[in-house]
Amino acid sequence: MAASATLLPLAARKGGPLKGRAAAPGDKSVSHRALILGALAVGETAISGLLEAEDVLNTAEAMRRLGASVVRAGEGDWRVHGVGVGGFDEPALELDFGNSGTGVRLTMGAVATTPIVTRFTGDASLRRRPMKRVLEPLSLFGARAQARDGGLLPVTLTGAREPVPIEYRLAVASAQVKSALLLAALNVPGRSTIIEKAATRDHTERMLQAFGASIALEALPDGASAISVTGEAELRPSPVVVPSDPSSAAFPLVAALIVPGSEIVLENVMLNPRRTGLIATLKGMGAHIDIRNVRDKGGEAAGDLFVRHSALRGVDVPPERAPSMIDEYPVLSVAAAFAEGRTVMRGLEELRVKESDRLSAIANGLQANGVRVEQTADGLAVHGMGAEGVPGGGTVATHMDHRIAMSFLVMGLASRTPVTVDDGSMIATSFPNFRALMQSLGADIAAADL
Ligand code: S3P
Repeated sequence: MAASATLLPLAARKGGPLKGRAAAPGDKSVSHRALILGALAVGETAISGLLEAEDVLNTAEAMRRLGASVVRAGEGDWRVHGVGVGGFDEPALELDFGNSGTGVRLTMGAVATTPIVTRFTGDASLRRRPMKRVLEPLSLFGARAQARDGGLLPVTLTGAREPVPIEYRLAVASAQVKSALLLAALNVPGRSTIIEKAATRDHTERMLQAFGASIALEALPDGASAISVTGEAELRPSPVVVPSDPSSAAFPLVAALIVPGSEIVLENVMLNPRRTGLIATLKGMGAHIDIRNVRDKGGEAAGDLFVRHSALRGVDVPPERAPSMIDEYPVLSVAAAFAEGRTVMRGLEELRVKESDRLSAIANGLQANGVRVEQTADGLAVHGMGAEGVPGGGTVATHMDHRIAMSFLVMGLASRTPVTVDDGSMIATSFPNFRALMQSLGADIAAADL
């Protein structure tokens, strides 16, 4: 299902300080994986705190079309009856993942070693995004794919009848590709090994362990890590408790840092060390963020973030930190616009193939609001406005990208004049209650005319 075809222009304007407590919705990465592993397990998987946003609902529907029973028992409370590894039915209908790269790529992996034919599609943004990065390694297992020129959706994937184990070194630092290959390996006789140089988010590995898969992790002498799965073991359901998404919490977090006088608490934020790069970077910029009440939430750490308005300084963000904050560069760029001095971000070529070309979208959005920025092939340098303040007053093209929309609305909460985004409808793909949550903290975000 694609998001609404009607554009929803929104504007954010400066008001009083942000105050209060809020919990961002469930983590998107964990939510997709819980549905997919639940669909591959034998018996019932109970999920609480599931993110009920378009991206994840599309994955739920895909799992139904593959034969699993996926039922909503209450708010965030879901039950999945799986078909067992190798038990997917051939879907009668194509699987439409809307805006979601994670949903489509992980599901491609999950079906690639079962002898069924599956057709995948998505919205205009997803149909522009590269699928070869996952289809090529899946072909090593014996899967065959037909894609549009350039390896684009729609894709028809024929799962391998007699899959063979693989050893594969990831060509891009991508948790989606890694996860697709680990899911494919579940139905392959023997041991498949996936090697990654940069440590990307490890939710799939953690959840596979909880579901009783035969998985082994090994640090290699060159600093890379090898993840091995021995296939054809059944998965046992394990309850999944989904903490708040740090990539969504990032928006109220940065808003509180840049709006003078703000003081907020963001509850139950996932603190998996492979997802906390933004917090480390903001602290390096002088942000007041206290992490309290750290606990284990079903195999993932979570805690409460106490955040206060802070005078920020520009920094050089280490490129090796990119995988741990890959989705947070748009909102970091907004924080950087309010900082004193220059913030340099590098090693970000992957941002060109997200929901939009984020390096261009960020640079254009900053310029439209009076902030100087330089763009290179793989990075940005943002000239912070510091005490002078951010002029604002621009209209930002969001290019079907939820995070571009939310980032620039956050900017408008502290800029001298309001910031408008051309379309806020895509926010529903990841953070349906974004406006309500921000308003509950005192933010002024409302429908606008273009
Ligand atoms: C995700 C991995 C990242 C991230 C995406 C979610 C995941 O994508 O940008 O929002 O859940 O595995 P890549 O693997 O393409 O870097």
